[in-house]
Amino acid sequence: MDRFRTRPAVVVLGALALALAAAGAWAGRAGPPIRAMLWIARDADPVRALGSTPTECLKPPSDAAQARAVEVGRAAFRTPVVLGGQAARAGIACESCHRSGRTNPDFQFPGVSSAPGTADVTSSLFSSHRGNGVDDPRPIPDLSGPKAAFKIGQAPDDRRLEAFIHGLVTEEFDGPEPAPAVLAGLAAYVRSLDPSACPAPPRQPLSPALLMADARQSIAAARTESAAGDTATAVVMVAAARARLGLIDERFNTPAVAAQRRALRDADRRLAQVQDALRTGRPGAGSALANWLDRARPLEADLTAHRSASLFDTARLRQALKLRLPG
Ligand code: HEC
Repeated sequence: MDRFRTRPAVVVLGALALALAAAGAWAGRAGPPIRAMLWIARDADPVRALGSTPTECLKPPSDAAQARAVEVGRAAFRTPVVLGGQAARAGIACESCHRSGRTNPDFQFPGVSSAPGTADVTSSLFSSHRGNGVDDPRPIPDLSGPKAAFKIGQAPDDRRLEAFIHGLVTEEFDGPEPAPAVLAGLAAYVRSLDPSACPAPPRQPLSPALLMADARQSIAAARTESAAGDTATAVVMVAAARARLGLIDERFNTPAVAAQRRALRDADRRLAQVQDALRTGRPGAGSALANWLDRARPLEADLTAHRSASLFDTARLRQALKLRLPG
């Protein structure tokens, strides 16, 4: 594999050119107001694709150690830095393709997809290792579908799932070597997705409350991992929460909600400081995380109260999308 280690400059430049071309399709802006617009099919219903999200079919394991692994995996699954490389720079996480652990019929990324809902996970666009030079997009599988339908076995003692995810992260997406608990967590999360756990409504509106709940859950996982001494995993958990805050921030983009955006950025800054403390071994990360959690509920209430002035509002979302130039 070593001879593929050097990232061919042409791949990087090609990817950047595609990303810029996509961003350039937005009138008078550096990029689209919502980053996910870059990988949503042009003719997708924007209110469904960007204003709602599938419900999650998660069956939490009864075993405490397994439940802890699932919490780590659930957060990592939603964190672009886990993938690294071009995908992370574009803001893509496992969850961009497997939304809420399911599929994404609206996913279409230049150079990676053919029809909407497909992706080439051996595409040279995201990878310097695996690029097979063959345009081979495949339908994105619903990871919450029946277990028998999967190519990779998901039995708890079958480690092919870990090996597959490790290959995805390090080879396909050029990500850094994942912390052992992050890799184990991703596999545990995928194993815990179960069609029998799907809520009745297939989708729900995307809201600040939903994203803040994810952020709080990630910070709770960060506290557990930090207390257990797994700093590398705790750092990823904090990154997961920051990524969720970023998804709220980009939609709080009008003067009417400037105060809420400032509060969000302050919340993000406090998490950046915790990451720094964790990385350098400075004490106080645990209490800073506890303090962050205390302040998260009032922040969430304020965001929810101002939701209608943000791009979480369906009418405003539609209006923002009209800025997209034809062609
Ligand atoms: C760019 C879109 C994309 C991203 C990002 C992505 N996947 Fe996938 N995933 C796919 C596609 C497409 C396939 C099907 C590949 C095939 O059929 O050869 C797949 C297949 C899988 C499978 C195998 C399903 C089976 O049939 O056994 C698993 C498990 C999986 N992905 C988990 C993940 C995890 C975990 C991440 C993040 C580390 C991730 N995926 C990120 C698109 C994506």
